[in-house]
Amino acid sequence: MNTTMSMTTMSTPYTPSASTPYGDKVIVCQHPLLAHHLTLLRDQATPCAEFRASIKRVAQFVMMEATKLLPTAATMVETPICKTQGRTIAPDVPLIIVPILRAGLMMGDIALDWMPHASVYHVGLQRDEETLEPSTYYNKLPAQGERMDYSRARLFIVDPMLATGGSAVAAINIISKLGVAEEHITFASILAAPEGIEQLRRHYPNITIVTGALDEKLNQVGYIVPGLGDAGDRSFGTL
Ligand code: PRP
Ligand code: URA
Repeated sequence: MNTTMSMTTMSTPYTPSASTPYGDKVIVCQHPLLAHHLTLLRDQATPCAEFRASIKRVAQFVMMEATKLLPTAATMVETPICKTQGRTIAPDVPLIIVPILRAGLMMGDIALDWMPHASVYHVGLQRDEETLEPSTYYNKLPAQGERMDYSRARLFIVDPMLATGGSAVAAINIISKLGVAEEHITFASILAAPEGIEQLRRHYPNITIVTGALDEKLNQVGYIVPGLGDAGDRSFGTL
């Protein structure tokens, strides 16, 4: 195992999600396996392929939490034994996944595994390393009203890092043209900094934020502390 970790074994109690100072619209997921893979992500010695695999594993927990309020509908199903009632995701509720390129791609794959009928609108944002301002280089949203009743849609933005919040706000600014209700938008991340959460909530107080961990702060150059470094570069070997 490639690692720069030192080990001390202890048993910690498990609760599915931690409370935050931000109320019930900010959810921090908790699970022993999530903690394990988050620690691999933080380890600077974790190679690219394993980094991507751990992003996907943490994303499983984050997406479970992010989708737990999806509306369902009752349906009858015939098992090999008898008829019974089941529930499916409500068929009249459109689902949309918005992966933020590049680092959001792996999370987008996980979201699509769970919601294979969702539409996927890719948005490419690049944060300027000096100013920390995001710029848009790709936008694959359909024309407004073209395909679905957006007022009923549930939309999931996936990006592993919520740092200053600039990229998240820019993504929602783009998406808001569609007319999805703010309370039906969830921002799902692997890590979040308090600065990013606060900035996002200032602009969009009614969205839900689900994250794998709430970190301490940003450093002077806008990186999350303790963080995991540059998620896009570590995912795709462009460090
Ligand atoms: C990273 C990350 C977010 C953004 C977060 O992307 O994936 O999109 O930074 O930072 P912010 O909250 O301060 O805006 P980056 O711009 O590095 O692009 P990449 O995914 O192509 O590496
Ligand atoms: N983007 C990253 O990839 N990492 C950070 O810590 C902050 C922004």
